[in-house]
Amino acid sequence: MTRIILIGYMGAGKTTVGKALARELGLPFYDLDWYIEERFRRTIPQIFAEKGEDGFRRIEQNVLHEVAEFEDIILSSGGGTPCFFDNMEYMNGQAMTVYLKATPEILFQHLKMGKTERPLLKGKTDEELMDFIRQSLAVREPFYSQARYTLDVSLLDDYNKIKDTVRLLRELLNI
Ligand code: S3P
Repeated sequence: MTRIILIGYMGAGKTTVGKALARELGLPFYDLDWYIEERFRRTIPQIFAEKGEDGFRRIEQNVLHEVAEFEDIILSSGGGTPCFFDNMEYMNGQAMTVYLKATPEILFQHLKMGKTERPLLKGKTDEELMDFIRQSLAVREPFYSQARYTLDVSLLDDYNKIKDTVRLLRELLNI
């Protein structure tokens, strides 16, 4: 049974890498945010607006407990998933967890464009975004680093790099 959960900060490439890995392994791919959006027929920003971050975190935990029971899947968690409740411990018990690690500078490059889809980043200037990434990454790092495996994805940028990352991931996990 192969169950892999990718974790890491927003913009680290969890979804991109997860999809590519799932395609190579011929396994179904799940993205926790997409699953939540389908289940609740609401976008993530709508859920934040209607239920607040606390409400979102409760939903996220419930849905995690559902999806992380599926067998033979690749799952991308949300950037905050490992940092609430006992989610990190739970994920380590259920799956091979991999932290896709990237520097604040790389995350900033990836997040600059997609700010509006992410409620935590909405409305921030570039400078505020950079500060927010540095600060929240420092708070989250102790959770992320509990993953069973860590892969540095700072170089993920074009097609070849995604392929290289998938290759490294397969070597790391021996799959
Ligand atoms: C969040 C990350 C998002 C999404 C929500 C909150 C976070 O997922 O779950 O906007 O707290 O880091 P991605 O990491 O897929 O953007």
